Amino acid sequence: MTYLPHIYSILSAHVHCLPVAHCHSHRGSESCIVGTSPREESRTKKMQRRIAAAKRVLQSGFGRRSFSQAAAPLREAELPRMPAFNYTPPPYSGPSATEILAKRKAYLSPSIFYFYKNPINIVAGKKQYLFDEKGRRYLDAFGGIATVCCGHCHPDVVSAIVEQTGRLQHSTVLYLNHAIADFAEALAMKMPGNLKVVFFTNSGTEANELAMMIARLYTGCHDIISLRNSYHGNAAGTMGATAQCNWKFNIVQSGVHHALNPDPYRGVFGSDGEKYARDVQDLIQFGTSGHVAGFISEAIQGVGGIIELAPGYLPAVYKSIKQAGGLCIADEVQAGFARTGSHFWGFEAHGVIPDIVTMAKGIGNGIPLGAVVTTPEIAEVLTRRSYFNTFGGNPVCTSAGLAVLNVIEKEKLQENAHAVGSYLKDRLLTLKNKYEVVGDVRGRGLMLGLELVADRSLKTPAKAEIVHVMEQMKGSDMGVLIGKGGFYGNVFRITPPLCFSREDADFLVDVMDHVLSKM
Ligand SMILES: Cc1ncc(COP(=O)(O)O)c(C=O)c1O
Repeated sequence: MTYLPHIYSILSAHVHCLPVAHCHSHRGSESCIVGTSPREESRTKKMQRRIAAAKRVLQSGFGRRSFSQAAAPLREAELPRMPAFNYTPPPYSGPSATEILAKRKAYLSPSIFYFYKNPINIVAGKKQYLFDEKGRRYLDAFGGIATVCCGHCHPDVVSAIVEQTGRLQHSTVLYLNHAIADFAEALAMKMPGNLKVVFFTNSGTEANELAMMIARLYTGCHDIISLRNSYHGNAAGTMGATAQCNWKFNIVQSGVHHALNPDPYRGVFGSDGEKYARDVQDLIQFGTSGHVAGFISEAIQGVGGIIELAPGYLPAVYKSIKQAGGLCIADEVQAGFARTGSHFWGFEAHGVIPDIVTMAKGIGNGIPLGAVVTTPEIAEVLTRRSYFNTFGGNPVCTSAGLAVLNVIEKEKLQENAHAVGSYLKDRLLTLKNKYEVVGDVRGRGLMLGLELVADRSLKTPAKAEIVHVMEQMKGSDMGVLIGKGGFYGNVFRITPPLCFSREDADFLVDVMDHVLSKM
């Protein structure tokens, strides 16, 4: 099909989504399903037919790779065994999963969603393990979405929080307190170059909103370039930078241009980072005044499905952005805090030094905390007006942050992420050699992805299969909790606490192998 007719047909297929009353975000797996006009109704019916067909496939199995419902149950001895762990969680006498689910449905936003057909009620955690209401233990391979880096309820982090909470919980930065200053100093010591000034926020979204504003103020330009398939947050500005339709509402999002994703697996130029970088140069020349505010990117796309940027991409792009007068922002919300193993910050693996670094998630091991780090010169722009954040730098959160940094150092968690992550990746690669459905294995340290495809040459996303494998891995005799994401929802995200052991890695792979072998 020639260019214009092709574009017209894509537009007419999508335009019916616009007036939809309740357009359920597909979160990488479903699509808009509620419509009002006759055309929308017919589209809705088509969609319902597709969903019903998918359900039938799910129930009947996938031909040669049929699901294990039909398979004979395994004998106890054949199942992989979770590594031993000498810990008993505190007794739980609270409400059951069913009661909590009913309350969530009644009183919480309908937008919040959960994993698993029968969601689990997690009531306790220790190191890399979680416990449900019945005391059943799970191996946590998702780490609260790449957040729990030191391990659940690490005693040093807990005691820092408890001690500070008992002493002083909140006062704001209008008064002096040592906790914020100590943590800012420790954080600045972990940064390269002149990245020495910290502004604390409460989340990754807030950190990226602030970073983008700082870039705009510093340069006097509005245009920002981000990558397709990226995730940077969900407030007005960051939703503009985020570039996956599943995570974007139809609200005004201005001033962000989305460059080709330098995705070695699905990207148009494969692993040729410099070719992708030329697209950024094109965007600057043809989409802006020639001057830009900045460029924002993750070192490894997390929500986007653990996508490593093609080699050579970041240095080339940073050069173009600097020539156009812009600032380079590294979003380290997922890749930071030793997760990638080889380096403390994800951007370090690319040999670049950003102008602004944003962080959250791992920074507090689960405490709501985020930060923006930049140079003294750039930080100066915020003095042009009053800029304030009530909870940013709160003594409890910053005490936790300092404890996290100390634990990462004391327990050599970066080294562990590197050693165990490399071992785990090698073992996952053996699954790729064994099963056609494993299309790609990627990532670094303990930020790994495994993409399932129904057809290797076409890279057809295996959406139903991944749901099945995920359910089975959690299932009654297994107990492995694993993440899922990517634009099509067909990528396993493996981002466990950084204290994950080789035995845990073996168990995870053995369980996945076992489930895949039954398909
Ligand atoms: C790379 C990245 N940036 C920013 C955010 C937003 O962080 P938060 O959910 O804390 O607002 C996320 C969240 O997943 C993220 O993965």
